[in-house]
Amino acid sequence: MASSDASGLVGRRVVLGISGGIAAYKAIEVCRRLVDAGAHVAPVMTAGAEHFVGRTTFSALGSEPVQTSLWDGPNPIPHTSLGQTADVILVAPATARVLAAYAAGLSTDLLTNTLLATRAPVIVCPAMHTEMWEHPAVQANVATLRARGVHVVEPESGRLAGGDVGAGRLASPEAIVAAVERVLGGGRFAGLHVVVSAGGTREPIDAVRVIANRSSGKQGYAIAAEALARGASVTLVTTVDLPVPHGAAVRSVETAAQMQEAMQELAADADVVVMAAAVADFRPVRAATGKIKKDGGVPEIVLEPTPDILAGLGATKPVGQILVGFAAETSDLVANARAKLERKRLDLIVANDVAAPGVGFQHDTNAVTILGRGALQCTVPLADKRTVAVAVLDIVSQLRAETSTFDPSPHHRSLTP
Ligand code: PMT
Repeated sequence: MASSDASGLVGRRVVLGISGGIAAYKAIEVCRRLVDAGAHVAPVMTAGAEHFVGRTTFSALGSEPVQTSLWDGPNPIPHTSLGQTADVILVAPATARVLAAYAAGLSTDLLTNTLLATRAPVIVCPAMHTEMWEHPAVQANVATLRARGVHVVEPESGRLAGGDVGAGRLASPEAIVAAVERVLGGGRFAGLHVVVSAGGTREPIDAVRVIANRSSGKQGYAIAAEALARGASVTLVTTVDLPVPHGAAVRSVETAAQMQEAMQELAADADVVVMAAAVADFRPVRAATGKIKKDGGVPEIVLEPTPDILAGLGATKPVGQILVGFAAETSDLVANARAKLERKRLDLIVANDVAAPGVGFQHDTNAVTILGRGALQCTVPLADKRTVAVAVLDIVSQLRAETSTFDPSPHHRSLTP
């Protein structure tokens, strides 16, 4: 279901950095696909890359001759011309050295100089052996780059050089080109207000105790970060204090009632609403004002249902708004999620089997089935939560494009670019 329409690439200037790894041969295919899709590709190779592929290949397939050096070409300052004129800089493959230099702000060659001399969005596609990819130094550099807004196309697991199998293989050319298209197509969410809920609510029992759940907020934050990367203005309604994705507005809440109040207010004029939060289904009817003493015996806590925030949003949804829920299930994933989609009047539901390894609460990864009205159904196998966010927002984009063709309401017209 992910968008594969590459029309957003026509006439866009892509600086393609190729660094020295065996996966450099796959950058040939990336280059060809970008050019076929109408992009202007300016290839830049590091000295390491030239051990794996020849300059001639990229000069022949790119839109201009390959550049390799700060010193040898006719332009005395090639890195600034490359950096200033780029619509996007794509580094594929990105080696541990290039990631480290970029994270540290080191300009050691034409590619790393160009990365520092640009205000264009940057996409890095790491590729290396599993041991290197999982090394804390490499992971820390990737985290630093992500926190600065650099887009990371995660490596895949599979066969590596030398016959080893593991994480670290360069993402597929399709995935890399889709990432470029997504980053350049950020305008598709420009002007949209996206409201995302994240984290688990906490319902007070007394002054110190709460009914809580295991939600870390990671999935909601990943959706917020992806919506921001696509140019949306984003409000996060959150119960957790993870680092806020740059540019997001934040409403901190704790209980289901507080989350309901914030969501109802913000959703009234939102274009896209995503309920990734895990809302408590029950809360104590009355919270004790002080701390319940142990020596008073085991207390009887009477529970009542919390309001169903999402069902309320579904009942009052403005025309043209896309409303996305999540479903945390441990059995009958699709049937249970579809029932929630219908009952809560959603456009999409993202179902995760939270009993499966690596899926759902607290993990950095998730695996989901995304269901829409009618036959729409798409599965995202176990992947990092940002990848799940990408898939969800690709489908949201698609739904918006479809509804804009027949919905003539004033609200919707105002959403259509
Ligand atoms: O936060 P992480 O650690 O990254 O974990 C991610 C996640 C597992 C929390 C996320 O992927 C997820 O599944 N979120 C929804 C959890 C949940 O409450 O599912 P549910 O099936 O109980 O609820 C269905 C939908 O109704 C959800 O969108 C929920 O936000 C909403 N709901 C539920 C109860 C309620 N009283 N009000 C609601 O709005």
